[in-house]
Amino acid sequence: MSKKPLVGILMGSDNDYEIMVETGRALKQFDIPFEMIVSSAHRTPERTTTFVRKAKECGMKVLIAGAGAAAHLAGVVAAETTLPVIAVPIDATAMRGLDALLAMVQMPAGIPVATMAIGKAGAKNAGIFAAQIIATSDDGLARKLEDYKLEMAAGVIIKAESLQQRLLDDGLA
Ligand code: RP5
Repeated sequence: MSKKPLVGILMGSDNDYEIMVETGRALKQFDIPFEMIVSSAHRTPERTTTFVRKAKECGMKVLIAGAGAAAHLAGVVAAETTLPVIAVPIDATAMRGLDALLAMVQMPAGIPVATMAIGKAGAKNAGIFAAQIIATSDDGLARKLEDYKLEMAAGVIIKAESLQQRLLDDGLA
């Protein structure tokens, strides 16, 4: 993306990409430029803090951290910034993401992290939630989010009507 990024996305490993690409897709849907990097709280602590310390002066409004296992990335990011931080727990171990979820959601008082659901739904919601934060000072983006919700509602009505037709076809209505 060529425009100045408004959102910074960090993931603990390139193995997290398959999940975190959903965040990128959601941001792209709302035309929000982002920067995505691999950086680990444990393996590259300096790279992580350097990126986070520069984020605000680069014009970023929200940071998103996706990680699995003992997922300290979002907390470490939040420790270094006053930007809002969104966390995406990833299923990367035998604990199926529950380890990452608890590590991310159980932040100590004073260092908030907005933790999403485990996996792809959480990654997508992280992008939408970032859009909602940015939309508090961007009316055009707020209108796009309203349209998105209307489209989702229309999709449900279409599915409800097709279910009604199936019930009729099956002699159940
Ligand atoms: C975390 O450990 C990463 O976010 C990843 O989900 C998990 C495993 O990393 P790899 O060993 O697959 O690189 O830091």
